Amino acid sequence: MGSDSRAVGVVKEVFPGEARVALTPEAAKKFKAGGVTVLVERGAGIAASFPDADYAAAGAELVDRAAVLAAADALLTVRPPQAAEVARLRRGATVVGLLDPSRNAPLLAAIAAQGLSAYAMELLPRTTRAQVMDALSSQANLAGYRAVIEAAAVYGRAMPMMTTAAGTITPARVFVMGAGVAGLQAIATARRLGAVVTATDVRPAAKEQVQSLGAKFVAVEDEEFQAAESAGGYAKAMSAEYQAKQAALISDHIKKQDMVITTALIPGRPAPRLVSAEQVASMRPGSVLLDLAVEQGGNVEGVVAGQVTTTAGGVHVIGYENLPARVAVDSSTLYARNLLAFVQHLFEQPEGAETDDDILRASSVVRRGAVVFPAPAA
Ligand code: NAI
Repeated sequence: MGSDSRAVGVVKEVFPGEARVALTPEAAKKFKAGGVTVLVERGAGIAASFPDADYAAAGAELVDRAAVLAAADALLTVRPPQAAEVARLRRGATVVGLLDPSRNAPLLAAIAAQGLSAYAMELLPRTTRAQVMDALSSQANLAGYRAVIEAAAVYGRAMPMMTTAAGTITPARVFVMGAGVAGLQAIATARRLGAVVTATDVRPAAKEQVQSLGAKFVAVEDEEFQAAESAGGYAKAMSAEYQAKQAALISDHIKKQDMVITTALIPGRPAPRLVSAEQVASMRPGSVLLDLAVEQGGNVEGVVAGQVTTTAGGVHVIGYENLPARVAVDSSTLYARNLLAFVQHLFEQPEGAETDDDILRASSVVRRGAVVFPAPAA
């Protein structure tokens, strides 16, 4: 696919609460510089503070939604598009976005029924070459940052140690469960706010990363733990025995914490349950838990998606969804750069050669009318 005379399009996201946009004026300008036509639905960027005038100045054409759908060769999205809109895409078009393919089989079927193609940004390989396109990382980073900010806003105390004429305030104790991309950024953010930070993970590689950020690592470091990382660098589901040992260690630790941020995920599975209702109840009044895994079922028992609940004992449990959308300017900026790099790469590949390229092969979910997700086991 050469970039010449290609058009990328972006429409306003319609998913409730979704403030991000898949293309920024900065990315529009770079597409234009590469000879790509850029079509933007009027108002598409406004929730992320990117006005139409900035897109126009970057060389984009501002049109209505129907015109974007009818003319885009690549439709760039944050959330999956609606099936009714897929039907309005032009022949040969490609959809690129966070398509959440394991939960959107009907959408993939609708894209296939139109003879189109689609790529899911979640499925990119975590290789050095794909790093610039890694939307999971760019969004998780900001989610981890924002998790601490949200938790700090609900917390009725200060985070850092403060020495005042009226006496000293002790620093908050923050425990981060799951030290992947989001967890590491949560650790760094809590440290910057002056908290005393501890963290846990089931991947042994996380220990050194946690320590390098100035936090203490807390985990059952048995043989199973030593072998717990998959080839792709992701966590494996742990045995019931390990989970019981982990729970005992965590129980003792959690009751001394002021704030717990949970980020634990296992690809393709519901989030592991890490904090029980009893453990929540063991925390002091005014303590805060924020569950970043709420959209995958939650790490914290009793968390309510989209809400802050307070237990009878005065512990606040935050279940906000889509934290990246609460930092929509930066999350859109990084996501748009991820998509720019991906689409430039896509346009550089010769037609029909997608399967020769590891990046396209891994992220392809519909290939010219055929659903190719889930990929057959290698
Ligand atoms: P993720 O979002 O799938 O999971 C978050 C964290 O939860 C992980 O660290 C995981 O080990 C942990 N976890 C799972 N079950 C747990 C449990 N029972 N208790 C405690 N923690 C648990 O992971 P994420 O953030 O996407 O990163 C996974 C790995 O991929 C990391 O090693 C990261 O450094 C690596 N990575 C590599 C990249 C590259 O090479 N280009 C890019 C991004 C990440």
